[in-house]
Amino acid sequence: MRDNFNNEIDIVTVSSSKIDSVDFDNLPFGSIFTDHMFVCDFRDGQWQKPQIKPYEPFMIDPSAKVFHYGQAIFEGMKAYRDEHDDVWLFRPDQNIHRLNKSAARMAMPEIPEEIFMAGLQKLIDLERNWVKKGLGNSLYIRPFMIAIGSGVIAAPSTQYRFMIILSPAKSYYSGEVKVLIADHYSRAANGGIGAAKAAGNYSAQFYPTKLANEKGFQQVIWTDDATHTKLEEAGTMNVFFRINDTLYTAPTSERILDGVTRKSLIAIAKRDGIQVEERSVLVSELVEAAKNGSLKEIFGAGTAAVVNPICGFSYEDVYYEVPKQEHSIALDLKEKLTKIQYRMADDTFGWMVKIEG
Ligand code: COI
Repeated sequence: MRDNFNNEIDIVTVSSSKIDSVDFDNLPFGSIFTDHMFVCDFRDGQWQKPQIKPYEPFMIDPSAKVFHYGQAIFEGMKAYRDEHDDVWLFRPDQNIHRLNKSAARMAMPEIPEEIFMAGLQKLIDLERNWVKKGLGNSLYIRPFMIAIGSGVIAAPSTQYRFMIILSPAKSYYSGEVKVLIADHYSRAANGGIGAAKAAGNYSAQFYPTKLANEKGFQQVIWTDDATHTKLEEAGTMNVFFRINDTLYTAPTSERILDGVTRKSLIAIAKRDGIQVEERSVLVSELVEAAKNGSLKEIFGAGTAAVVNPICGFSYEDVYYEVPKQEHSIALDLKEKLTKIQYRMADDTFGWMVKIEG
């Protein structure tokens, strides 16, 4: 690790911030970006000097691999402002770990942890005015890496760009979320890239999700590709099922993203004596539980969506409503998680990392 790595970032700031033109009460998710971005290029076999500069479009050769072969990975994280006006990150160690796992799977270079952490610290410190106080307000952080080397030969690039961009955020979904259970299309397969946060994992879902949207469903719950009998993951979230008082979620695998919110909710639930089982839930079990009344809740968990109750699901053209609960474990876990993130509850797990001013 290099000493004082922070000091090695070249920083060029904007002459005037656009923050006053932003309506923070009306923020469609991921559509407004802050004044600056972090950029670090990889070429000649090494990472180059990182930069923070004004947020702006940039040029890439039209033959770059990212355009032709989708060599691209990303992360999703959030920063929160507490009552004392300090700004905090949630479990950034998990994101750098997963980013590098994705990089390895996509034949991309790993990003050194000190570049990732220093980039986050410096960029978010510079943009701290964009992190608004109050539960539900956050700064969504999108680190990503793309292959910028030119040439349409189908082989890994030798040049990459790692960037971090920031977007003030409120909620990802508004309103009810109804889901369709996949019985034909698949998100991932054994030996594939399902566990990587690769761009193509998301675009491959757009078409089946569009078909689901046309039928009035916001998301698809993916099932295993081989048999379509095991419930795995929702499009932008991991998914939990509460049957009686036990929570079930699929174990992480080659097909499933190792979600940071997922593992944090499991840790909180276990700490508080809630029974959690990481095992595959069969579609037939879910249908049976919906019919006999033991299905109490379904919810998605992810950084952008946080915890999102699912009010019903459709399978083979039959719609099953999830009954409203007087005491929702999903909402209880959401409150416990967000209280840790906003520093309103003790961080007994040691998850929060302060942005130094
Ligand atoms: C996140 O929750 O951060 C994600 O990566 C989902 C994204 C597609 C919005």
